[in-house]
Amino acid sequence: MKKIAVIPGDGIGIDVTDEALKILRTVKETGLDIHWDVFDYGAEKYLATGVTLPDEEVENFRDNYDAIFIGAVGDPRVPDMKHGKDILLGLRFKLDLFVNFRPVKLLDEKLCPLKNKTLADIDFVVFRENTEGLYAGTGGILKQGTPDEVAIQTSINTRKGVERIIRYAFEYAKAHGRNRVTMSDKSNAMRFEGDLWQRTFYEVGEEYPEIEKQHWYIDALLMQMVKRPEQFEVIVTCNMFGDIVTDVGAQLSGGMGLAGSGNIHPGRTSLFEPVHGSAPKYHRKDVANPLAAILTVGMMLEYIGFPQWNARIENAVIQAVKTNNVPRDLGGELGTKAMGNWIVSKLV
Ligand code: NAD
Ligand code: IPM
Ligand code: MN
Repeated sequence: MKKIAVIPGDGIGIDVTDEALKILRTVKETGLDIHWDVFDYGAEKYLATGVTLPDEEVENFRDNYDAIFIGAVGDPRVPDMKHGKDILLGLRFKLDLFVNFRPVKLLDEKLCPLKNKTLADIDFVVFRENTEGLYAGTGGILKQGTPDEVAIQTSINTRKGVERIIRYAFEYAKAHGRNRVTMSDKSNAMRFEGDLWQRTFYEVGEEYPEIEKQHWYIDALLMQMVKRPEQFEVIVTCNMFGDIVTDVGAQLSGGMGLAGSGNIHPGRTSLFEPVHGSAPKYHRKDVANPLAAILTVGMMLEYIGFPQWNARIENAVIQAVKTNNVPRDLGGELGTKAMGNWIVSKLV
């Protein structure tokens, strides 16, 4: 039996997880041997008890579950995001989920904000390094609140960390018939980390002679993503740039309502979540688009051994878009719950 730990989290994370669970229920009813438990970690729990995510729970997830699903975290009542950092970044770091896998795939031409782009033009994957960089949490504040205040946030880049995400990108390219890997950094301005990324990219790249190596500085990469997105097949970049690149990527393929992601350590308990946040203003308004969460469920099912369900779910979403049975953000009229029900009706 495959086990999933579900954390709805905050805001629309809760709304979209309700719909994600409808999909899991449907899939289970077809005979799939899966089980899930729901955990109430999030802002509400943190504000009431001070608990964010205990270490024992992280160990429980690691030892007893195959995957974790998170809706979203973030609540205006917790402005420093203390709980969100412990839950989301905590899981990424403690479970060593070094691959943040974020596909950018246009499912219908009408969803693309760029003119005259076909489905083939916008079809790439981004590998965001997920355990280091500016997210490592090293640094500090001196003389806080005084005119002499100093804030330091350092970017951590290890050979091991850089090498494993770059190698993963090349391996993915090789396994999926992709012919080009693009690495993006800011090595013209930030020489120390840039030098490590550059050397590692070309050294590892030598092991993949059949795959073209491309490089763009991050500012140029974002410009190229809008200008000529068809050139991209696999992009690999650091944690911070990957965060930014994947929000832009989401927009190229229809917006945050459709972008799913996996935080993966191959062979270990991995974490799946939509790319979007908790959009607090939409919480319980029945307007949030659950399709990103639903596509994320597909990615998670593929990871735990049921790839056929990823394909079925993605096809149902493509049908929804084609027939305009979609929520407001995609120009339709379906509420969050009706959208979930519609997808379920296509899966049974
Ligand atoms: P957000 O993604 O929550 O929302 C930005 C805007 O995108 C929304 O106002 C809405 O217009 C649109 N949007 C996003 N998801 C949507 C959906 N499913 N359906 C319809 N529209 C959708 O980003 P934000 O406003 O920058 O952040 C809100 C909170 O979420 C913050 O606390 C932030 O830190 C947190 N956050 C969490 C995650 C996560 O848990 N993975 C990711 C990003 C942001
Ligand atoms: C994401 C989010 C997170 C990140 C935030 C909520 C810490 O934006 O998953 O893209 O920056 O990684
Ligand atoms: Mn983000």
